Amino acid sequence: MENVTFHDYKPVTLSFRDAVIDGLSRGQKSIPPKFFYDERGSRLFDIICEQPEYYPPSVERRMLSQLAGEIAALTGTGRILIEPGAGSAAKVRLLLDALRPAAFVPMDISFDYLKSVAMDLARESPWLPTHAVCVDFTHSLPVPDCIAAGARLLFFPGSSLGNFSHNEAGAFLGLVRDTIADDGMLLIGVDTKKSESLLNAAYNDAAGITAQFNLNLLYRMRQELGADCIPENFAHRAFYNAEAGRIEMHLVSRKKQELRVNGHCFKLEAGESLHTENSYKYTPGEFISMASANGFREIRHWVDGDGLFAIYLLQVC
Ligand code: AVI
Repeated sequence: MENVTFHDYKPVTLSFRDAVIDGLSRGQKSIPPKFFYDERGSRLFDIICEQPEYYPPSVERRMLSQLAGEIAALTGTGRILIEPGAGSAAKVRLLLDALRPAAFVPMDISFDYLKSVAMDLARESPWLPTHAVCVDFTHSLPVPDCIAAGARLLFFPGSSLGNFSHNEAGAFLGLVRDTIADDGMLLIGVDTKKSESLLNAAYNDAAGITAQFNLNLLYRMRQELGADCIPENFAHRAFYNAEAGRIEMHLVSRKKQELRVNGHCFKLEAGESLHTENSYKYTPGEFISMASANGFREIRHWVDGDGLFAIYLLQVC
């Protein structure tokens, strides 16, 4: 296919083994959330996105479809559109007709998946030069040299920024600013603060899919690291920590037990947890002030009618 190129920056990833041994050696035991996304975990995440309680994907999709024309009027057409963590690139498809980018640069850590998504896109939109970049986008956002110079627009939907700590989020915004340069714009979807009951329900869906997604880490530990953990000995726990402004997910030990992983033994008390994810929520004021502290100024932001989700269009300043 002529309108697609591939660029493998061979991301060096921390191994699951090292992350588990390091995380379980800490005072508050933890496992980084990026390890949720093996094949089964990615499938479970797609199912989470269809649960009625988990509102962000459907609200954001609806907003993007309705706002595509308005967004394009503010960004102009013909920009180089970059999407870190593009995954299935489902949301960007809602914008392509309106934005008519000069090129699309999806970035992802999994080369095989990225390749097949980029091929599909290139087939669907023969007018769109697509340059797929395999990279760990939390460390760098390399735009291939073969792309002609032009104003850039970076798209970061899904409230993925919420899974970063405040410091990491600031550092990522700085990296984005350096990548898109002076005439660059950022279009980003961020989950809002709202009633605790809605937030708690979103991460405790009635069908138990988020629980399976969380517990999948223990299945991975058993299968990939030969750990002797029994997933049934753990419970999914997700709750809104109002002071920290975040949902926390944990795997709580149902009893006093020992976990053996690769020659290491970790003791767990009954009720002790492995902290598996934070998902920060931001009021528009909080997000815009974090963005300004990291080199952006607001062009416009939109919140859906129920105050559930926000989309921001920002400019480098
Ligand atoms: C990917 N990320 C933005 C999701 C979130 O809401 O923090 C991951 C997730 N965890 C449980 N449900 C969804």
